[in-house]
Amino acid sequence: MLALISLLTLVPSTLSAPIFGLSSGSDDAAATGATTSIALADVQSSLLRPAQFARVAYCSSKSITDWTCGEPCTSLGNVTFLQSGGDQGLIPLYYIAHDPSDNSLAVAHEGTDSKNILSILNDVKFGLVDLNVTRFPDTAGKGIQVHSGFQQTFERTADGLLAGVMKGLASTGAKKVTVTGHSLGAALATMTGALIKKSVDPSVEVTVTGFGLPRGGNQAWADFLDSDVGVQYMTNQNDPVPIVPPRSLGFHHSSGEVHIVDDTQQDFVDCPGQDNENCSTGNSLLKVDVTNHKGPYFNDISFGRSACPDGQ
Ligand SMILES: *[C@@H]1O[C@H](CO)[C@@H](O)[C@H](O)[C@H]1NC(C)=O
Ligand SMILES: *[C@@H]1O[C@H](CO)[C@@H](O)[C@H](O)[C@H]1NC(C)=O
Ligand SMILES: *[C@@H]1O[C@H](CO)[C@@H](O)[C@H](O)[C@H]1NC(C)=O
Repeated sequence: MLALISLLTLVPSTLSAPIFGLSSGSDDAAATGATTSIALADVQSSLLRPAQFARVAYCSSKSITDWTCGEPCTSLGNVTFLQSGGDQGLIPLYYIAHDPSDNSLAVAHEGTDSKNILSILNDVKFGLVDLNVTRFPDTAGKGIQVHSGFQQTFERTADGLLAGVMKGLASTGAKKVTVTGHSLGAALATMTGALIKKSVDPSVEVTVTGFGLPRGGNQAWADFLDSDVGVQYMTNQNDPVPIVPPRSLGFHHSSGEVHIVDDTQQDFVDCPGQDNENCSTGNSLLKVDVTNHKGPYFNDISFGRSACPDGQ
C-alpha cells in the first residue's frame, strides 16, 4: 500500500485521468505464455553493452563528448564518440559512438527519472496519434498510432540523428547498429530503431534494446515493432513504468520482454508474446515500486546521473 500511495503522490496532476492498469488484464487478450528462465551469462551477452551505452546517456554532454564520464565510460573500454544532439533539457540528449570491439555503432538516448516519466505517461494531453507516415511511408494504412509526446520528442532529433548514423557507417565501415535507452530513452529507441532499420542497407544489422520501457503505441505499433524492427526490453520487478499507459487506453507492448524476477541480479525470465501476464503486465498496481525503475538491473547497472562523475 505504501508503494501505491507514494506513486500517486508523485503524479498528483493525473488523478482525474484514467490512470495505470487498474483494469489491466480484463480489457483485451494478453499473452499467457509460460516464462522460461535465462542465465545471467545470456543476459550479459545480449544486454550488457546496450545497458552500458544507455547508462552513459545520463552523463553530461561534455563528459560524453570527451568520453570522460567515469565508470559509465570506462566500463565500455575503447569507444570513440562520434556525435550528439539534443540539449538535456526540453530535447533529451542522444549520442552516437563507434565500438571497435565488434565494429558497431551505438546510438543511445537519455532517459528521465521515474517521477518525470510517470507524469508524462499519465498526462492525458499525450494520447495516441497517427505515426508520421511521411517519415514511415510503408506503414500507411496500417492504423499505427504512437504516444504523441514520444513522437514529438523523437521528431526533434530524428533527421540529425539519422544523418549522423549514415555518416558513421560510412566512416567506420560498421555493419551493425545498437540502439538503446532507458525509460523515456527506451521509448525513443524504439522509434529511432524503426527509422534506422528502414534507412540503412539491409546488410547492416540493427538491434534495439530498452530498459524500463513504457508502452509507446497501439496494437498495430506493437505488431510493426515485432515484424519490422525486433525490440528486446528489460523490465525490473514491480517497476510501474512498463505498465503505463494502460491497455485500457489502447496502448500495447510488443514482444521481447526479459523480466527481472527479484533483486539478486541473477533471476531473469523470458516472456513470450506481447504484454505477457506472467511478467510486467501482470503486475498489480498495489505492488508497484518506483525504485525498481532505476535499478540495479544486473552487473550493478542503475540508470541516472548518480553514476556519472558530476552526478547528484
Ligand atoms: C503463466 O504461465 C502459466 C504456465 O506456466 C500459464 O498456465 C498461465 O496461464 C500464465 N498466465 C498467468 C496469468 O499466470
Ligand atoms: C582504440 O580504437 C581506435 C580505433 O577505433 C584505435 O585507433 C586505437 O588504437 C584504440 N586504442 C587502444 C588503446 O586500443
Ligand atoms: C514527419 O516527418 C517528416 C520527415 O519525413 C518531417 O519533415 C515532418 O516534420 C514530420 N511531421 C511531424 C508532424 O512531426
